[in-house]
Amino acid sequence: MIVAIDGPAGSGKSTVARAMAAREGLTYLDTGAMYRAVTDAALTRGIDVADAQAVSELAHAIDIVLDNGADGPTVTVDGQDRTRAIRTPEVDANVSAVAAVPAVREAMVALQRKAAESADVVAEGRDIGTVVFPAAEVKVFLSADASARARRRAVQRHGGDTATDANATANAEEQAKIEAELIARDKADSTRETAPLKPAEDAVRIDSTDLTVDEVCDAISELIAGAR
Ligand code: C5P
Repeated sequence: MIVAIDGPAGSGKSTVARAMAAREGLTYLDTGAMYRAVTDAALTRGIDVADAQAVSELAHAIDIVLDNGADGPTVTVDGQDRTRAIRTPEVDANVSAVAAVPAVREAMVALQRKAAESADVVAEGRDIGTVVFPAAEVKVFLSADASARARRRAVQRHGGDTATDANATANAEEQAKIEAELIARDKADSTRETAPLKPAEDAVRIDSTDLTVDEVCDAISELIAGAR
C-alpha cells in the first residue's frame, strides 16, 4: 500500500502524513527532508547551490538516513543528526534550486523507492503521485489558501500549533513575509522542468483551508478503506 500526498509548501502535508502513518500503521516518508538534507550539506560545505554538477555529486556521495523514532522522525547525514538544521530559513530559501537538478532528483527518487520496497508507506512531497509512485493506491493533492498556510507556519515558528489551537494568531508582518516566501518556493517548484509540483491526474484534491487535521485524515482514511 502506498499513500501519496503532494501539495504546495505549508499545506499541512507533514502533519497529515504523520497522523495517517499512526492511524493506518504505515511508514512515514518525508521526501522533502531528503532535498533539505542535500541543501543543508551543500550550504555547510560551501558548495554553490547553483552549481548543478557539484550539487549532484554531493547528493550521490552523502548518506541520508530518515528514521521514524518514538520521539518523531529524525534525519542524519553521514551519521550526523541534521533534523533541526534542515528546517532553517536558509535551507528554505535554497532548497528549490537544489531540488530542480535532475541528477539530484534521480538519487533521491532511488532512495524513496527503496524505502517503499519493504514497507507500506505514506509519502509526502511534490512529485510522489506523478513520478515517484505513479501506481500509488491512494493519491491526494493537499492544498490550502496561501494566507492560511503562512499563518500555520508563522504560528509553528513560535512553538504553537494551529491543529490544536485553531484560533492561534501570528504576527501580521511575519506572516506576510512567510507568505511571500511560500509563494516564491511554490512558483519555483511548479515551474521547474523535472518533476514539477502538480496534481497527478488521478489524485483526489483536498483543500484544507477550513478543515481540521482530523477532518482531512478522515477523508484520506476513507480513500484508503476504498483501496484496500
Ligand atoms: O516538503 P518540504 O517543504 O520540506 O520540501 C522542501 C523542498 O523540497 C520543496 O520546496 C521542493 O523544492 C523539494 N521537494 C521536491 N520534491 C519532493 C519533495 C520536496 O522537489 N517530492
